[in-house]
Amino acid sequence: MTSPASRRVLTGITTSGTPHLGNYVGSIRASVRASRQPGVQSFYFLADYHALIKCQEPARVQRSTLEIAASWLAAGLDPEHVIFYRQSDIPEIPELTWLLTCVTGKGALNRAHAYKAMLDKNAAAGQDADADVTAGLFMYPVLMGADILMFSAHQVPVGRDQIQHIEMARDMAASFNHLYGEHLTPPAALIDDNVALLPGLDGRKMSKSYDNTIALFGPREQMRKQIMSIVTDSRAPGAPKDTEGSALYAIYRAFADDAEAAAFAQAFADGIAWGDAKQQLFERIEREIGPMRARYEHLMAHPEEVEAILQAGARKARALATPFMRTLRHAVGLRALTAQAAWASGKSSARSSLPTFKQYREADGRFYFKLTDASGAVLLQSRGFDAPRDAGQAIKRLQSEGAAALAALTAHLQPLPDVGAPALQSALESLRAEQAGN
Ligand code: TRP
Repeated sequence: MTSPASRRVLTGITTSGTPHLGNYVGSIRASVRASRQPGVQSFYFLADYHALIKCQEPARVQRSTLEIAASWLAAGLDPEHVIFYRQSDIPEIPELTWLLTCVTGKGALNRAHAYKAMLDKNAAAGQDADADVTAGLFMYPVLMGADILMFSAHQVPVGRDQIQHIEMARDMAASFNHLYGEHLTPPAALIDDNVALLPGLDGRKMSKSYDNTIALFGPREQMRKQIMSIVTDSRAPGAPKDTEGSALYAIYRAFADDAEAAAFAQAFADGIAWGDAKQQLFERIEREIGPMRARYEHLMAHPEEVEAILQAGARKARALATPFMRTLRHAVGLRALTAQAAWASGKSSARSSLPTFKQYREADGRFYFKLTDASGAVLLQSRGFDAPRDAGQAIKRLQSEGAAALAALTAHLQPLPDVGAPALQSALESLRAEQAGN
């Protein structure tokens, strides 16, 4: 069971390219470090539905999914410790996308930066405003909102260019909750100012669109060649060199500790030859990346291993997504016609959605209870008691003390990894309030 103190952190990478050093420094490395912090439940996923928006080459989407998954794993992501999955393995995500689509204003999507940038580009080219804009591009922020809200993420580590999307997800959560009750958790963007924006070979931001990248896991010799092609000024060996504005120095800085960076800056001042500086940069990067390369190459040669890891991750993710989606469907009125109908029973809708305890006896002769929500999803499951009276007393305690009774009863409860602590707590709280006559 999720401990109530745990903070949920979620991030995704679009699977439309081959990871480069900029992705490693800006996202992969920070994610792997963050996933090792105590008290954090991390979700990392391959955003392959998002890839379809900009990449319509099936082989490339598949290859990129493997490359990015292998990069994350080679960089040290532990799939036992985090929930690591592929977006398209979770059918609840497109389902939630639709529910969110219906509470999102078209005007809000009109104002999304990525969409507006396309409009500006079309205007500048004298084209029709919506030329080359698919409905997928327009809906991008809603799909991203579903990614985040599906797992009730508190924090989303992203680059500054994505802050608007997180704000839109907050708005979607607020609209949904206003209409249907407090179900969705508003997320916050997590911006790490220490994460470097890496320059590329030509000194501009390292980006696939500028074709100035250094591949993260190419062959060793390829990395050396790419580093040797970093653009520098024409100062001769012996002449002092500036670290300011030097792409070479900036890339070194992203891999070095303070002492190493100071020594490298001193070498610049002392007039190190560019060729030697590049060799030092290559060796410094290799020291970090080199040990990961064998694992990367192994995984690339064994896609079945990566596939099995992703399938296991999807099972963990769906253990959360499936019951949550059931609750959300119920909340919006997508319900079995036999589900207790608020308008027919005369009971208040709050009452008809109260969770209920059920006591029963198993074939092993012992006595059990479980707590289910209005849709029948199990929120709490006891272990066997010797006597029905003991089970009954545990239920009474939960009814009168609410979530506060959980700690004392842990020995009698089975862990349910797919039930989030907030869902259970709010269920117990509503029962306690009911019992207290509120
Ligand atoms: N839009 C992100 C990017 O292009 C990828 C992404 C998709 C994502 N869904 C997400 C990131 C949810 C964080 C949370 O980089």
